[in-house]
Amino acid sequence: MKIIVNGAGGRMGNEVIRMAQAGMRGAEMAAAVDINGCNVTGCAVAKSLDEYEGPADCVIDFTHHTVTAGLLEYAKKRKLPVVIATTGHTEDEKALIKAAAAEIPVFFSYNMSLGVAVLASLAEKAAKMFPDADIEIIEKHHNRKLDVPSGTALLLADRIKLVRADAEYVIGRHENGKRTKNEIGIHSLRMGNVVGEHEILISTDNEVITLKHEAKDRALFAEGALSAAAFLVKQPAGLYNMQDMMAAE
Ligand SMILES: NC(=O)c1ccc[n+]([C@@H]2O[C@H](COP(=O)([O-])OP(=O)(O)OC[C@H]3O[C@@H](n4cnc5c(N)ncnc54)[C@H](O)[C@@H]3O)[C@@H](O)[C@H]2O)c1
Repeated sequence: MKIIVNGAGGRMGNEVIRMAQAGMRGAEMAAAVDINGCNVTGCAVAKSLDEYEGPADCVIDFTHHTVTAGLLEYAKKRKLPVVIATTGHTEDEKALIKAAAAEIPVFFSYNMSLGVAVLASLAEKAAKMFPDADIEIIEKHHNRKLDVPSGTALLLADRIKLVRADAEYVIGRHENGKRTKNEIGIHSLRMGNVVGEHEILISTDNEVITLKHEAKDRALFAEGALSAAAFLVKQPAGLYNMQDMMAAE
């Protein structure tokens, strides 16, 4: 499976390339693309996707959400499956992703970790079993992270919303007043080199359930992105996520 890594000079791009060069999940580097350049050998190197027209089976994107529109145009033009691991999309950008999935296979997940997929599933189950509980999500990340709250915190909240249709997200509570019954509080901490921690607290008056995932090394997300690519290249056009991949295994 020949892959193009978009965002090849970034933290995550570097990890994906390191693993692809080691042949993980049957991957092989076709091209390393980064607008700011990158130091990659053994494959084509470009500053924009449009510069690369060589062989490829899939694109993996770890860049910035504003890159998504151009990324999708490139993937559609070349009929290439695309793994979008970038976070922070606007509703308009999400609509573009959905529309592109009618033409090409698209894997879109704000968290590529299997552990977080399990966490999301446990959170949904707990929220369903305790319909009156207060739910709060706390996420911690390194001090270079751009988007707030994390895409994963939103992914977890969205999953809980499946069983709490009236849920409203309160991001960074900062005004006086009581919480409402239907709110999901989402709180972001930015500090040091934290790879990613997500904690969901589900509290009734008498007990608290705490579900927590800690990412110890960002290699975990790179491995997940390569697994997603290996899954995606076998799928027809459509929109896929971690749940779909887990169901297929
Ligand atoms: N889904 C997940 O599991 C997961 C995990 C970690 C990070 N992320 C997300 O992935 C993204 C990248 O994270 P990072 O830590 O690697 O960031 P980073 O800033 O280290 O890397 C981003 C790279 O993208 C490049 N880039 C920007 N615009 C580009 C363009 N138009 N074309 C090509 N390259 C371009 C930048 O030059 C940079 O090298 C973020 O949105 C982050 O939140 C997702």
